[in-house]
Amino acid sequence: MATRIGILSGGGDCAGINAAIKWVVKTALEAHRMGMTFEIVGIREGWRGLVEEDFMPGEINKQYVTPLDQDVVRTWDRYGGTMLATSRTNPFDPKNDRSQKLLQNLKALSIDCLVAIGGEDTLGVAYKLHTMGVRVIGIPKTIDKDLHGTDYTLGFESAVQVITEEIDRLRTTAGSHKRIFIVETMGRNTGWLALEGGEASGAYIILIPEYDFEVSSVNELLLEGVKRGNRYEIVVVAEGAKPKGGGQVTRHGEKDSFGHATLGGIGDFLAGEVELGTGIETRCVVLSHLQRGGAPCAFDRRMGRYFGIAAVDLIAKGEFGKMVSYLNGEVTAVPIETVLGRIKMLDVRTQYDTERYNGRRTIFV
Ligand code: F6P
Repeated sequence: MATRIGILSGGGDCAGINAAIKWVVKTALEAHRMGMTFEIVGIREGWRGLVEEDFMPGEINKQYVTPLDQDVVRTWDRYGGTMLATSRTNPFDPKNDRSQKLLQNLKALSIDCLVAIGGEDTLGVAYKLHTMGVRVIGIPKTIDKDLHGTDYTLGFESAVQVITEEIDRLRTTAGSHKRIFIVETMGRNTGWLALEGGEASGAYIILIPEYDFEVSSVNELLLEGVKRGNRYEIVVVAEGAKPKGGGQVTRHGEKDSFGHATLGGIGDFLAGEVELGTGIETRCVVLSHLQRGGAPCAFDRRMGRYFGIAAVDLIAKGEFGKMVSYLNGEVTAVPIETVLGRIKMLDVRTQYDTERYNGRRTIFV
């Protein structure tokens, strides 16, 4: 009897997910060398795909479930987004707990084990299922790179690449018009994207959620730059950054089923304050979902491949309840609970220059 693997992606899409799916499928279906036989079913729209319908035993070809083989996934690794689609559905939502339905559906679909590709929320659900006896493996992905237990999450480097390219484009127009540009990045409550995207693109100022900024200091730094003859400046601000004494800016008051507010708007706020404080024309560009779009960069394709292969290795070894991870330059695995209930923040002391509001200026000291 073949072991049936279910695979899904949950939470925000990003580049690199499809590479992981492809390599789970390829590795599993070519795993005869391990004396094992697998079948793979793709579950569409994350956890929603397992709670929207009542599946009948033996039936897999419905709206939310699709069989996968090497031919289907052959070209997937070069595309962004997720071919299985995604959602932010929480089957354990206290307002609408559908976890029992999910368990029944897994049984009806004869799924022996589940590979969940996601961030903190998706992997949190995977962990709860693991404690209820479901055999799960996690693969980390999020452009925020905010998970504990891994130095890398799929999608991050592709998003940094987008930030870098967009800021390169902004420079020519900013310089032509002598304007200041505030570039708002995603990243939720951490500054990894803003900091590494800002460093890669040579931004003059980078503002992160881990260190509250003073508007007056931002303006002083900008005016210093002007005095030195700079024709324009680029300020990168993470969506979760906030001024000292102020709060995070959100798009609306609502929270998703995992309790997250939708951040956004700090860029516009700051552009107003900077224009007022410096007298220089200041515009805001919100990179928003562009950071999640487009083809995966080479690193995400490779990491998706390694994470996919590693996930099948764990299934073959029967090591469930683990998330594949990248630690100290090695692909490895950690217990899924490593990522739960906390996010990995930047270390301001070693990674940030609080005087210049920018990346660190010493490496060895
Ligand atoms: O977690 C990934 C992420 O892109 C965050 O950086 C951002 O705050 C959030 O998702 C946006 O979510 P949505 O696409 O649901 O608006």
